Amino acid sequence: MFLITGATGNVGTEVVSALADAGERVRALVHRPDAPLPDGVEPVVGDLSEPDSLTDAFQGVQGIFLMSGYSDSILARAREAGVRRVVLLSGGSAELEDLDNAISRYMTLTERAVRASGLSWTFLRPRAFMSNALAWRPQLQAGDTVRAQFPKVRAARVDPRDIGEVAARALTDERHDGRIYNLTGPESLLPAELVAVLAEVLGRNLRCVELSNDETRAELQQGTPPEYIDAFFNFYVDGTLDEATIHPDVSDVTGRPARTFRQWAETHAARFRSAG
Ligand SMILES: NC(=O)c1ccc[n+]([C@@H]2O[C@H](COP(=O)([O-])OP(=O)(O)OC[C@H]3O[C@@H](n4cnc5c(N)ncnc54)[C@H](OP(=O)(O)O)[C@@H]3O)[C@@H](O)[C@H]2O)c1
Repeated sequence: MFLITGATGNVGTEVVSALADAGERVRALVHRPDAPLPDGVEPVVGDLSEPDSLTDAFQGVQGIFLMSGYSDSILARAREAGVRRVVLLSGGSAELEDLDNAISRYMTLTERAVRASGLSWTFLRPRAFMSNALAWRPQLQAGDTVRAQFPKVRAARVDPRDIGEVAARALTDERHDGRIYNLTGPESLLPAELVAVLAEVLGRNLRCVELSNDETRAELQQGTPPEYIDAFFNFYVDGTLDEATIHPDVSDVTGRPARTFRQWAETHAARFRSAG
């Protein structure tokens, strides 16, 4: 049995599907018992911020897919309950080990806690997700203009489905223990190039407006905590984080090429056409 945290999110959904498709027994940590899950997947209600809520979730579990940023006591409890392996959803900024950057800090500290936990581990360090483009949905429903933050920054964005497939293999095969995987897509694209792909896939005449740093900061201030805004500026304006380099790890682990942004957009096109 495998416990998947973040099971209703962009990545967790894909981990659940990959394991279920492989015929594995899957338990999904959810906030609501009626969360939509594939047939045969067992929901368990709990919250990573409340370790006491996880006691039932760990029973009979051999491996966990874990989100970064939660307390070390989760790992101790998991080990006490008999869990043997953790596959951690970290990120490229863990490599920086920059404790002054709020995002690098939580990923670095979580990796350190997992290393110290006594559990077998695999760290997944995906670069920017293709699914971040879903944040453009309200703009695409309101008109044909996409306002692009950090428009000069290339990234080898990764499809969450590829992260899910790598996670499923790491959970089920001890040969991935102790490995760190840098997960990217097969091409490094600018935001305007993503918008051009979306325009073709959706059959629309979309225009990309490149925001200045001041405009980007003003947009982020509408909903992002200040320490995360600073972290993004540190990554993308100061240039501390390299998300442009293409890594072979997805194809090395899965045995097939990493999915392109066009493939991701074709799979998720309906989500850009529907409201919400
Ligand atoms: N976006 C990127 O480019 C990027 C790049 C590298 C790494 N990452 C890392 O990847 C993580 C996951 O990204 P995502 O896009 O899959 O996120 P997401 O779609 O926002 O999903 C988050 C998931 O976590 C669950 N969750 C949130 N708080 C929780 C808590 N306290 N206890 C239990 N479950 C909780 C959510 O459940 P509910 O929906 O019920 O709240 C949801 O299932 C990010 O948080 C980040 O650390 C992201």
